[in-house]
Amino acid sequence: MNNRDMRPAENPLILGIETSCDETAAAVLRGRGILSNVIASQADIHREYGGVVPELASRHHLERIDAVLDLALERARVSLGDLDAVAVTRGPGLVGSLLVGLQAAKAIAYVRRIPLLAVNHLEGHLRSVWLEHPGAPFPAVSLIASGGHTSLYVSSDENHVVRLARTRDDASGEAFDKVAKLVGLGYPGGPVVDRLAKTGDPGSVPLSPPKMSDGSLDLSFSGFKTAVLRHAKARGLDRRFPAGEPDQETRDLLASFQSAVVEFMVSRVMTLAHRERARAICLSGGVACNSLLRARVAEEAGKAGMGSFAVSPALASDNAAMIAEVGRRQLLRGEIADLSLNADPGLDF
Ligand code: KG4
Ligand code: ZN
Repeated sequence: MNNRDMRPAENPLILGIETSCDETAAAVLRGRGILSNVIASQADIHREYGGVVPELASRHHLERIDAVLDLALERARVSLGDLDAVAVTRGPGLVGSLLVGLQAAKAIAYVRRIPLLAVNHLEGHLRSVWLEHPGAPFPAVSLIASGGHTSLYVSSDENHVVRLARTRDDASGEAFDKVAKLVGLGYPGGPVVDRLAKTGDPGSVPLSPPKMSDGSLDLSFSGFKTAVLRHAKARGLDRRFPAGEPDQETRDLLASFQSAVVEFMVSRVMTLAHRERARAICLSGGVACNSLLRARVAEEAGKAGMGSFAVSPALASDNAAMIAEVGRRQLLRGEIADLSLNADPGLDF
């Protein structure tokens, strides 16, 4: 426990730090207002390996964290001495990457004698929607779809969040990344599949959604990836280094894959939204950038008389504004972390 008087200001100035995967990010919030949101992506570094290499990720976080913190403070026109608290992602994520953010946050909390706030990365994704759309109604059904997680939640209000379903195998973003890799496209796969699928025929390759033998509404994405792999092998589309843009047959396969994955998620979201009598559907996480997912959720929500709220790309992918927002709520509740805080790579939400 920090030893300074910790009665929170009404609109505290909070520095958020996020280093759980391959984005080095820092942001400053005053209350719920985003003063700065700096994200240094390492995608270029990991691209040649076709995925995130944990050791490279932590090393690059270490190299960039100081500059990212300086820039976030500079853009917010504040200095370390102005901060009321520092919030940091403690998990889930890559342990070596998490530790870089944690050490930076602890050093700031210790030297400036301000509260340290330990944040669950997934809660950050969930709350990014309400940070951007504070008027979204409740009950709300939220889909977090990212590279590491895909889960559904229901909230009667902003204070009550209950998980309804989760993926039993791969995350949705992971499926995009793996499929892109197997047809020779770079990392991360989601944005490139999204772009190429626009010129493909989504009806060309039938890919059926998984059926849960126990009738559960959990999610599963590994079957889509295996079906795409089988089709790609049979048709000779599993090239590692294709020259230039993929051919029409590959784009048709990508469009079919994207459509199948999106329709599967939309059907789960809508089933649960009806069951929970939701008034809003919230989309967050990197896969919430997907143009088809955004459009289809908006369309189905509209038909059902529900609102749809997808975070903008700057808050969809990993960022520290969402971490500061969760920290702000913890500060108001007096949930201050100890300086002995450790990373929790497998943290649940
Ligand atoms: O939330 P995020 O930045 O990091 C994690 O916490 O995992 O999500 C990254 C994931 C990657 O798998 C990436 O391929 C996917 O989000 N993604 C997309 C799109 N943009 C990013 N997936 C589908 N369509 C997109 N446009
Ligand atoms: Zn994330």
